[in-house]
Amino acid sequence: MDMSDSNFEVMIDEDQIQEKIAEIAQKITHDFKGEEVYFLCVLKGAMIFCSDLMRAVKLPLEVGFVSVSSYGNETHSSGQIIYKSPIPDDVKGKNILVVEDIVDTGNTLKVLLEKLKSDYSPKALKVVSLLFKPSRNIHPIDIHYLGFKIEDKFVVGYGLDYAQKYRNLPYVGILKNI
Ligand code: IMP
Ligand code: MG
Repeated sequence: MDMSDSNFEVMIDEDQIQEKIAEIAQKITHDFKGEEVYFLCVLKGAMIFCSDLMRAVKLPLEVGFVSVSSYGNETHSSGQIIYKSPIPDDVKGKNILVVEDIVDTGNTLKVLLEKLKSDYSPKALKVVSLLFKPSRNIHPIDIHYLGFKIEDKFVVGYGLDYAQKYRNLPYVGILKNI
């Protein structure tokens, strides 16, 4: 496994990511003024985005985690969702902000949002995603706060993996040699 920068083409660099996070955080701070927010971080991919974003939001907030997977070791969506750890009970009735790394086919979020709506009576239910791949989208998802629309390339870094690796790259990049 080659971790050297020459093995990746940078798509979105660290500065661009941080600038966008500041922008999104300001909107969230404004939109939820006077409220508390529950950041529901979708593991594992969104952990880095979530930790940067929550520190930039000036509101009283909680964070909790749900772990789902829809990807195997391939670069194709499997169309299924597996709960590796369930939605935490303490999201019930709160202002829930689902934090995702990327919306691809939309399958993961569709299933997750339906469950939150039907079983957790949220006070508000919003979605923030760092990335969106419109070309592959099947299930239209209302992404209230979006970082970047990207072309149909498999990306890694800043939380996103290929076969569980490369999450620790500080930027979003394209893997040259899969
Ligand atoms: P969806 O259910 O097809 O929208 O897929 C969402 C999940 O697939 C994301 O949360 C990611 O974990 C994964 N995924 C989709 N595209 C990529 C990619 O380009 N790189 C890494 N993971 C991806
Ligand atoms: Mg994910």
